[in-house]
Amino acid sequence: MSLNPTPNDKFSFGLWTIGWQAQDQFGSATRAPLDVVEAIHKLKEIGAYGLTFHDDDLFAFGSTDSERQHQIDRAKQALADTGVIVPMITTNLFSHPVFKDGAFTSNDRGVRRFALRKVLRNIDLAAEMGAKTFVMWGGREGAEYDHAKDIRAALERYREGVNLLSQYVLDKGYDLRFAIEPKPNEPRGDILLPTVGHAMAFINTLEHPEMVGLNPETGHEQMAGLNFTAGIAQALEHGKLFHIDLNGQRGIKFDQDLVFGHGDLINAFSLVDLLEFGGPNGGRAYDGPRHFDYKPSRTEDYDGVWASAKANIRTYLLLKERAAAFNADPEVKAAFAASRVHELSTATLHPGETYQDLLADKSAYENFDADSYYNGKGFGFVQLNQLAIEHLMGAR
Ligand code: GCO
Ligand code: MN
Ligand code: MN
Repeated sequence: MSLNPTPNDKFSFGLWTIGWQAQDQFGSATRAPLDVVEAIHKLKEIGAYGLTFHDDDLFAFGSTDSERQHQIDRAKQALADTGVIVPMITTNLFSHPVFKDGAFTSNDRGVRRFALRKVLRNIDLAAEMGAKTFVMWGGREGAEYDHAKDIRAALERYREGVNLLSQYVLDKGYDLRFAIEPKPNEPRGDILLPTVGHAMAFINTLEHPEMVGLNPETGHEQMAGLNFTAGIAQALEHGKLFHIDLNGQRGIKFDQDLVFGHGDLINAFSLVDLLEFGGPNGGRAYDGPRHFDYKPSRTEDYDGVWASAKANIRTYLLLKERAAAFNADPEVKAAFAASRVHELSTATLHPGETYQDLLADKSAYENFDADSYYNGKGFGFVQLNQLAIEHLMGAR
């Protein structure tokens, strides 16, 4: 297995990640702006296949039509020169003061109408750039105070917005799907659709649920104390993993956006194992972009930015290599068998069995030895995990 990335690996980066100037709540920028043309050439150099961006990353909010077009043309030229593609586009509905109370769910109806127009324009751009996924991260859709937002009305307005955008894509015949990105908080005190589970339930209430999936982010689920791999597995089970934001997060705190694997490395290992080898027949479970949404730390200069971008890719490929070795190890196979992990795939009832049959089956209840589970019949999960850790550490 190679540690050299190829376009088949589908590694992509947001222009706002490598281009982040590192301004934060407490300090000003520590780096100069990054031009999109340089970004595209550098991404090609480090082995990424894709660039993603918000409208405002490419041309500043309020740009004239000709300024906007100029930037689009420059990006297109660099893409053509390098072969880098734009798999995903998204809209900035959070930076400008107009969005201080949200976009689709601002209490101010005029802001909601403005936000929809901004997204509609950006959907046209997404189609023009050949993007297949349109991410919606509603960072400002939320509140700090319980009485400030009628949550049920906000969800209705969210739904109204997504329904309108879906209809637009259908009418235009664009080959584009939406991916909602959940996040529990930051910048708002509480954000609507805070986790993968909340977002999936919301999607089921839409007019075109088939057009809308998820863009879960490692750190966002972990900010809520949740297991990212488990959330991804459920999204896959629902056919809703349309895109993914990979990064690192160390526990329940502000959104750290560290390099992938620089947070919960064990969870990153199981995630890569799931994405790459967790298909029904042991195949790739997810075939979309491996998109890194991280922030090069404020301490880094541009050499550090590109070193950190490469670190995302290298860590991912190393984890893939480690996961392959884990799965091929005969001791691991024996540990899986001892832990009866595969037995869970067998249906609980026999084919055609009814609850009447189950009730009639004395071996299922009357003669079942529940007491044998006391002081016996351990599952051996710790040993299985130890083998995973040893493979992760390169000790096997
Ligand atoms: C964040 C989010 C964003 C989104 C991006 C794409 O916490 O800041 O993860 O980076 O992913 O806006 O919509
Ligand atoms: Mn984030
Ligand atoms: Mn993200």
